Parts: sequence; C-alpha cells; structure tokens
Amino acid sequence: MTATTNPRLAVAWIGELDGYLQLLDQTRLPTEVVDLPCQTVEVVWEAIRKLSVRGAPAIGVAAAYGTVVGCQTAVNESREAFNCRFGEVVEYLAGSRPTAVNLFWALDRMKGVAASHPSLGSQDMLQRLLDEARLIETEDREMCAAIGRHGAPLLANCTGVLTHCNTGGLATAGDGTALAVIFAAAAANPELQVYADETRPLLQGARLTAWELLQRGVNTRLICDSMAGWVMKEGRVQAVIVGADRIAANGDSANKIGTYSLSVLAKAHGIPFYIAAPSSTFDFAIRSGAEIPIEQRSAEEITNAFGRRTAPENCPVYNPAFDVAPAENITGLVTEKGVISPVTEAEIRRVLGK
Ligand code: MRU
Repeated sequence: MTATTNPRLAVAWIGELDGYLQLLDQTRLPTEVVDLPCQTVEVVWEAIRKLSVRGAPAIGVAAAYGTVVGCQTAVNESREAFNCRFGEVVEYLAGSRPTAVNLFWALDRMKGVAASHPSLGSQDMLQRLLDEARLIETEDREMCAAIGRHGAPLLANCTGVLTHCNTGGLATAGDGTALAVIFAAAAANPELQVYADETRPLLQGARLTAWELLQRGVNTRLICDSMAGWVMKEGRVQAVIVGADRIAANGDSANKIGTYSLSVLAKAHGIPFYIAAPSSTFDFAIRSGAEIPIEQRSAEEITNAFGRRTAPENCPVYNPAFDVAPAENITGLVTEKGVISPVTEAEIRRVLGK
C-alpha cells in the first residue's frame, strides 16, 4: 500500500476571527470521510460528547477553539459582558467529558490568557483567545513529533507491537502519541507488524487506528480485544504501547477501557508496556489513579452500538469508558521531553521539570 504523508486534520480552524472550528467527524469513519463544521459552542460540546472528536489531546485543541466559537457572540459587547460569556462557555465545555485532563488543561490556558489581559476590548480579547488556541494546536503537533522521536528506539528490536484504541492523527493535532512512536518505528523498520485491538465497545481501534495505519502503509493486523493475551503468548509482540487520558503524579495512567487488562497481560508475559503522552496529559493535582474520574457512558453503546441490537432489550449494562493502568505495570512513559523510566513520581518530575 502507498503511504500518504498528510492525513486529513482531525481538528482545524477555518478562516480568521469570524471563522469556525472544523472537525473530521470520527463517528462516520471509516466508511465516510465527512467534515463537521462547528459554528456554535453547543455543536462543539455535542461533538466532544458524541466522540465526533475524541482522543485526549484532540479534545483539548477542540475545546480551546470551542471557547473562541462560543465567545464570537459577545465580540461586539462590553468587556464585562464578554467576560461573562467567556466564563459560561468555559464551564459548559468543561462538562462535556470528565476523564481526559487535556480538556481542562486547555481551558485553563484559555482562562489564563483572558485573566492576563483585563483591559483589552472584546474584539482584541477574542483575537488573543484565537491566537492561544492556535498555539495549543501547534504545540500539540510539535509534542507528537518529539514523542515519536523519543519512543521509536524502544521498538527498534521488535518484530511486532500491540496497541489499543486510537492514538494517532485523529486523536491529536499531529501524528499522535503511541501511533507517532509506531509510525516512526515503522519508518525505520517497514517489516514491523502492528497488532491493533479493535477496542470495544465503540471500535476506535478497528474504525480509526486500522484506517490510519493502512493509510500510512504500516503492516497492520486487526484483532479482537480478547485475543491480546494469546497474541502475547504466541510471541507475536515484543512491546505494547498505548496512549493516556490522564496520568496521576505517581504515574498511574487512565486510558481506554481494556488498557488495565493489557498492562496485566504484558507483565505476565514479560513484555514491556509503554504509555505515550504529552505533558498536557499529566495531572499533578492528583496523587494516584484512584482520584481519576472515570467516564460512565450509555448502555446503548454496548447493547446497540452501531444501530443493531446485540443484547436483550433493557439488559442492565456497566459501561466504564476508561480504566487505570497502575504505575508498577508501566515500563516507561514516553513524553515530548524524553522517556520516563522507572515510572515514579520523582522520575516524572525530573524529566518533565515539575
Ligand atoms: O473515548 P476516546 O476515544 O476519547 O478514548 C481515547 C483514548 O483512550 C486514547 O487512547 C487517549 O485519549 C490517548 S489519545 C492520543
């Protein structure tokens, strides 16, 4: 398969101050490649909630642009009225999803910009917010590239690697986190075989990761989540690498449901287990994974995910969207500043300079 170098952007700002946020609607992939223009903050909120845009860094970038979209309605009002609208918009967007800390990190950056320019007029303030959102996007793209560079050597001696959920260009403003590492490793070793978990219940691995890997010409094999242990037992993979939605100060890492099981399986098979994430995914305000809020999603995602009922009507369901891999199961955290190993609070603070 021929590699394409520039896949469609998951998140983009179209135009200038009166422009809008454009998302690649990930709920429609892989069968339809359709853009979702977001011209109101309600559409942005719904897009985050429904997973039209998903993946921790991409949610952060979308929320930053979402504040601009939301504040456009106050651009001709007094600065007091603008501030009031800004506060409402930020609070509203913060309620879209609870687990990925990048959402709150991005909103905090936007709040910082608003607070540090109290005397600007509304139009100039909106311009500063757009500039900050663009900076968040650019920085995320650069962090992805650095993560790829730092992580690729970890896979240098692998013939196979396993990944979970989607951590690529669709989940970030750049090449991704864990997938950036895989793309860089596959560029050095085109024989590298990537096993992608399909990632129940919403199939981010099958619908999104397999789509991205094939577009980039990477050797890809899709497996059901329940096959991961056997793939390890058969010696098909020498590393597991996934992303994260929030990493506590001690290194406990929340990621898509199924990640905890993979970390246990990797440990049982003596296989290194890596998490790749930018510094915007670290939450030093919480000491351990026990404090990470785990999003609970609707029963229909399990009983009726893609329009076809696959469980009895009214069947009770438990649907946590994330779990937490404990630090002791993680061989290394791949960040834009380097690889953190061993995964301890002291080593995290040292590498990230916190
Ligand atoms: O529910 P999702 O699809 O937003 O979950 C995404 C993940 O769990 C990703 O692995 C994580 O955000 C890392 S993205 C680089």
